[in-house]
Amino acid sequence: MAGPSYRVKRLAVGFLSEEKVSEIRDRSSILEVVSDHVTLKKTGKNYKGLCPFHSEKTPSFMVNEEKQIFHCFGCGEGGDVFTFLMKVGNYSFPQAVEELATRYGVRLPARELSTTQKREMSKRESFFQINQIASDYFHDLLIQGREGGEGRKYLSQRGISQEIIRDHRLGYSTNRWDGLVQHFQQRKVSLELAWELGLIFPKKKEGRVESMLGWYDAFRGRILFPIFDLHQRVVGFGGRVIQDRQPKYLNSPESSIYHKGDVLYGLQVAKRYATEKDGVIIVEGYFDLLTLHQYGFKHSVATLGTALTPQHVRTLKRYTKNLITLFDADSAGVQATLRSLPLFLEEEVVGKTIVLPKGEDPDGFLRKVDLEDFGGRVDRAIPLIDFFFERLMKTYDAKSIDGKVNVAREGVALLKKIPDKIRRDFYTRALAEKLDIKESFLYEMLQSSSKGPLQPREDLKKSFHETPFPKSEEMVVRLMVHHPELIPTISNEGIVKEFESPILQNIAGALGDLYGRRGRLDLPEVLAHVEEALQGRLCEFAFQECGLEGGDRGKILQDCIQKIREKRLKKERGELLRRIKEAENQQEEKRLVPLLKERQELAKRERGLRKDRFQKG
Ligand code: UTP
Ligand code: MN
Repeated sequence: MAGPSYRVKRLAVGFLSEEKVSEIRDRSSILEVVSDHVTLKKTGKNYKGLCPFHSEKTPSFMVNEEKQIFHCFGCGEGGDVFTFLMKVGNYSFPQAVEELATRYGVRLPARELSTTQKREMSKRESFFQINQIASDYFHDLLIQGREGGEGRKYLSQRGISQEIIRDHRLGYSTNRWDGLVQHFQQRKVSLELAWELGLIFPKKKEGRVESMLGWYDAFRGRILFPIFDLHQRVVGFGGRVIQDRQPKYLNSPESSIYHKGDVLYGLQVAKRYATEKDGVIIVEGYFDLLTLHQYGFKHSVATLGTALTPQHVRTLKRYTKNLITLFDADSAGVQATLRSLPLFLEEEVVGKTIVLPKGEDPDGFLRKVDLEDFGGRVDRAIPLIDFFFERLMKTYDAKSIDGKVNVAREGVALLKKIPDKIRRDFYTRALAEKLDIKESFLYEMLQSSSKGPLQPREDLKKSFHETPFPKSEEMVVRLMVHHPELIPTISNEGIVKEFESPILQNIAGALGDLYGRRGRLDLPEVLAHVEEALQGRLCEFAFQECGLEGGDRGKILQDCIQKIREKRLKKERGELLRRIKEAENQQEEKRLVPLLKERQELAKRERGLRKDRFQKG
């Protein structure tokens, strides 16, 4: 058969046997693992929630605990518990397997890995360990070290409490050049890896790195903020000088465990409170965050010297849909506030903002005013879109015609990003009112641009459902999934060999093969045998029987087989006739004879098929 080849994938991992991988899958609960990332509600046999892989308002993400699979009817993602972890956490397959083995207490045999695998897997592990060792070192120095006095003094001057120092594991690094280097050497830490994490540097001679010369600490005389991921692992550090030196902040470089666009400072603490309060406050500075937490606004997180990213918003969305920005009241802060609005609209969260008096930052302001005042400001946070319109009206003279046109133009550019039609309508009317112009004027502008906000998602759906499968073939596969007892009949008929769709052939092949070997069907096991790109389709079949419920399945199956064969014969006949005609045209007797014989054979097969139908039907 021509067409793409679908290799068997994801069975065993280097050092782990297929059996071990199955054992880990069996012990894991997909419901538990998914629930870490998605709020699920039970509906009938399945659990439903908002898909973590694309943005949506109504849930189309399903988990079936019995079958141990998930599938999103919106974007087509699907698979087993390993697939889920790989997609949601950017894990490789071996990493996902290991993670679940640890979580569900499956003992793994000693590893025999290839050198590259070994390097890749243990490197991440080592990174976490090294960061942890560094974090403990900095923290101990700050809370009790002889040399930590300066750091303690600085934090107490800034009013940071002991509780905050403990909860966020703040640290301090001395002014010495080799405090951490020595600590690492005692602990036999790989200095090369510590260098990759940006914790230490090799000394240089005439600009050239010569590790023989020794190493020196990257963070010196700084307060350290360890940055945690959601699993409480230290992925990086921020370090603020305590004397007047530049740069004010030194930050860990990005690494395989640290991506600034993904991580939010303080989230490991804030996530619980964000769900509880159904809201989260987003600030831009370490100290802003700590002060907020200290004063009881523990549902706060901070970005890490970067602008807010779509990934940040998606992460926060798992806990709450109410996102409130609280940035410095300077022009940079206003710009950052305005830039976050399109992100919020696209991710369909409710964006609000707290505006501080000019020149204030959250940390300073919160320490100046009383708690009630501040709490009131949080409660009265204004919708970001109102804030945006206000700014527009101030920027352009909204009384003049030119001003109105400018405001309308920029306003419409933003309105287009609102996926929800009702909300878009609402704000369109609001803007028309503010500008004192006809609504229809704005609607016209909205329509005149070719691509609306729904475009990308529609594209996604289209590519997912792109080439429809031959109906009868799809039906046979659905039958196999929902009624494995029919698989022996299907195998005897040998119909899968005759499939037109290589995708369905691959899936059906895996289903038949496993049923043959095991005498039963275990979906996750089948998933492990099909190409990753096909897993979503298989899960889709598993979630929906589609019109087969209650019918005479044996009869349906025979009809399908008949149709597949008829279609195939028809195609063959067309092809044969074309070749016969060609031979006739070129008057090639020699070629014609075998072709005519072939036609006779074909006619015989066609008669056989009709007789078959007569007998069975
Ligand atoms: P700010 O300059 O507002 O600092 O930068 P801050 O957090 O308020 O600190 P204090 O109150 O002056 O001590 C806001 C954030 O921008 C990033 C840091 O994440 C900081 O918290 N930043 C700032 C850097 O990464 N590098 C810098 O040099 C400055
Ligand atoms: Mn500040």
